[in-house]
This record gives sequence, structure tokens and C-alpha cells, in this order.
Amino acid sequence: MQEMISNQYHDESRQGEAFAPLTTDVLYEKHFYIESYGCAMNFADSEVVASILSEHQIGATNECAAADIILINTCSIREKAEEKIRKRLTEFKQLKKQKPGLIIGILGCMAERLKGNLLEEEKLVDIVVGPDAYRTLPQLLADAETGQKAVNVLLSRDETYADISPIRLNSNGINAFVSIMRGCNNMCSFCVVPFTRGRERSRSAESIVLEAEGLFKNGYREVTLLGQNVDSYYWRDEDAKANVSFAMLLEKVALISPLLRVRFSTSHPKDITDEVLFTMKKYENICNYIHLPVQSGSTRLLQMMNRTYSREWYIAKVNRIREILPDCGISTDLIAGFCTETEEDHQASLSLMAYCKYDLAYMYFYSERPGTLAARRFEDDVPLSTKKRRLQELVDLHRLHSLESMQRDVGKTFNVLIEGISKKNDQEFYGRNDQNKVVVFPKQQYHTGEYVRVYIHECTAGTLIGKPVA
Ligand code: SAM
Ligand code: SF4
Ligand code: F3S
Repeated sequence: MQEMISNQYHDESRQGEAFAPLTTDVLYEKHFYIESYGCAMNFADSEVVASILSEHQIGATNECAAADIILINTCSIREKAEEKIRKRLTEFKQLKKQKPGLIIGILGCMAERLKGNLLEEEKLVDIVVGPDAYRTLPQLLADAETGQKAVNVLLSRDETYADISPIRLNSNGINAFVSIMRGCNNMCSFCVVPFTRGRERSRSAESIVLEAEGLFKNGYREVTLLGQNVDSYYWRDEDAKANVSFAMLLEKVALISPLLRVRFSTSHPKDITDEVLFTMKKYENICNYIHLPVQSGSTRLLQMMNRTYSREWYIAKVNRIREILPDCGISTDLIAGFCTETEEDHQASLSLMAYCKYDLAYMYFYSERPGTLAARRFEDDVPLSTKKRRLQELVDLHRLHSLESMQRDVGKTFNVLIEGISKKNDQEFYGRNDQNKVVVFPKQQYHTGEYVRVYIHECTAGTLIGKPVA
């Protein structure tokens, strides 16, 4: 098992994590409790929400019983994600019975997808706020206090919250997420994100660099630049009369300090460029790790998914990454049982995995989302039992690859950023190497936030075990 919360894009261990700030010396009039579900973007958004609310004298608490306001930042990506949130809501019903003035708010993608219907379906909910409407939260909360239920799910073409300095929640003080763009223009047929997050828009390069600089000055040593499709980042810098591409942005952030590690997620195979790969090669502090979701190994299904690349194109991308960055860790997302998927298509996914031998893979069975292109055009015709069996086959194969990937690192030495004390042994630190693998080693004289060379002498399926070397 992994020792720590990986900074990856979707992380089951962080789902529903309750948030409270690292430290606070401000006395607030009221307190909110927030739980976040879904992708890292939702976690980053909760930090924007904390900032907006703190301006209105509402501070975060990690005890829901002590809160005046309970917020759930929700995800709609699969049916199961929504079910989990509905279940959590029923638990909050009890609290509301004991504390009638308690305000309950649904934020994020489920709020955007279900809009005002949520108020009818979930009677105890007071406010429903979509991802682009967080600036209006204080007003909506004030309305709710007077007994008025409130909904704002307006999507925006330009909201990026660029001027808001997020309040870091539940942070280890070392790693932070920085949103560089919002929304998605890609319209993959299975995906609800374009409907819940709206059109793609990039945040100004200057504000991103400022935020990363601020984090570095405050002791943070790693930033993960977030977007649904980071390679299509684009900013027109009117002062410099220049366009900023994702590769240029990466370079700007990497130049803040060689001691600041830079990661990013997610890369779309159709958009990641050689320019990005060469920028990664040029700067040692840009981590050699790429999350490159493939979704399926079958070109026929990729077409139906509207991914706009073929199996061969994807393989060529992986080859190119390995040619330019031989040590680069590669991870992926895969969907089992998409509409019309045959055994042959499934075998194509397995054989693609066998070719790529991913270091990490996030695998799901297809879950039809109302309103998506796939829901409108195709029948969800693969039986659940078949979806589950195929998913298990993908998971089993990946397990072999990830163990092989860990074993290949035994005997190597890595530069590890220390992120905290190991949960299993307080005499050990954990951190990660460049390729995003968790490393544990004896504490000795080192400190959190330092880099240390660690020789790996052993591994488990999720952790490299080592000792510091001079
Ligand atoms: N933007 C990223 C990309 O292009 O791959 C990923 C976005 S999505 C939030 C994360 C992952 O959820 C996807 O890569 C896909 O594998 C999975 N996913 C999305 N919609 C799904 C659905 N309807 N059923 C099952 N898995 C889904
Ligand atoms: Fe969804 Fe595709 Fe956009 Fe990713 S790129 S968020 S899978 S529509
Ligand atoms: Fe993220 Fe889930 Fe929305 S994955 S963008 S929170 S649907």
C-alpha cells in the first residue's frame, strides 16, 4: 500500500477528505466544514472557496459538529461517485436535526449537473453552487440564513479565480495544487466534465507564477499544475506581446527555483508536444512523470469515444516520451466495457497495457452519464458482470506491471523530496522520487522539505524502501 496521499489527479484515499487549514491565527465569526470528492481540481477549488469565505469572516474547521455550514464539493464523473455523496448527505441529516440552523451546501460538478433539482431531491440541502459561481457563495449563504434556498449554477467563459489566493487546506506544507485552467473543450463522448465545468479557459501566466512563487517562499517545495488538458493551455501576454504555451508556462514555473519541483496533470495524448517533453528534459526540477490517459486500446472504441487518436498514434506518443525522457514514469486511465466493446476490443486494451507497462493505472468500468454524447448516441450494452470481469482483468495485469516497475528500481538511488513522517513508522520519513513513487527511509538528521539521495534496497507493491546516502 502507498504510504501517503499521492499527489495524483484522482486519488481514492483523498475522497471525502475533510479540510481544515494548516494554521490560522484569525478568529472567525462562523465556521464551515468542507469535504471534497472527485479530481484534484475539486480539491484545489475547495481552497479557493476557503479563501472567498475567509474574506467574509467564515473560517474552516475539520469538525463537522462544530460547523455552522457544511459544504460538499461533489463529483459526477461516475454514477458511483454521486451515490457516495447522496449517502454522505443522509448522514448530515442527523446533524441538521440536532442543529436546525445548520446550512448544507452542495458545490461542484453534481451541483452543476443536477441544478435546482437537487433542492427537491435532497430536502435538507440549502444551497447549490456550480464550479464557476463560488464568488457568490457569501451572498447565497446569507440568503440561506434567512430561510431562502439558493442556487447559482451559471457557467462562465472567463472565470479562473486568478486573483484569489487559495487558503491551503489539510496541507503538509510541501505539496500544493495550482489550477492553471478550467473547463474542457474536448467532448469525449463518455465524459460529463464539459457539461459540469464548461468551456476551457486558461488563467493568466503571471498569476500562476505569482502563486507558485508565493508557495515557494512559504516553504512549499512542489507544485502540481492542474487542468483537464494542460497541453492546450494558452495565454496571450499583452504586455510582452507574446503567447504563452504550456511548455513556456512550465519553464516559467521551473525557473522560480531549482528547489521547487514541478508536476502537472492531465496530458491529453493528442496535445502533448515535443516542446513540452524537451522542456521537461531541460529542467531537472520538472518531474519525469506523465499522466497520459488512453481510455481504450481499440481504435474503433477510441473513435466512438471521440478521443481523436488511434491506438497507433498513442503508442507512437509513448515511444516518443521514452525516446526523449527514458526514465519518465507514465500512468494512464482506462475504461472497461464502453458501449459495444467486444472481447476483441478488450483484448486490445490488455495488449496495449502489455506494451506500455504503466507505472500506475486508474481503471474504471463504464458508467453512463445522462446528457453525454455516448448516452445520447450509443446503447450502454455491455452487461455489468462483463464490465466488472474485464475491469478485473485490466487490474490484474496492471498489478504485475506496477510490481515490475517497483522492482526495477531496487538497487537504484533517487533524489527524494521529504514530505512527512511515515504513517507506519514514526522513525521513518516518506517522500517521492521524480517518477512519483513513494519512498520510505530512516529519518536520521533530515527534515521535511529537504531533498535527500536515497538508495533503494527493497520494495513492496506501492513503496520503495531505502536508506539515505551521502
Ligand atoms: N481530462 C482527463 C482526460 O482527458 O483523460 C481525465 C478526466 S476524467 C475527470 C478522469 C477519468 O475518469 C477519465 O480519464 C476516464 O478514464 C474516467 N471517466 C470519465 N468518464 C467516465 C465514465 N462515464 N465512466 C467511467 N469512467 C469515466
Ligand atoms: Fe473529459 Fe475528455 Fe475533457 Fe478529459 S479531455 S475532461 S475525458 S472531455
Ligand atoms: Fe473532477 Fe469529478 Fe468534476 S472528476 S471535474 S469533480 S466530475
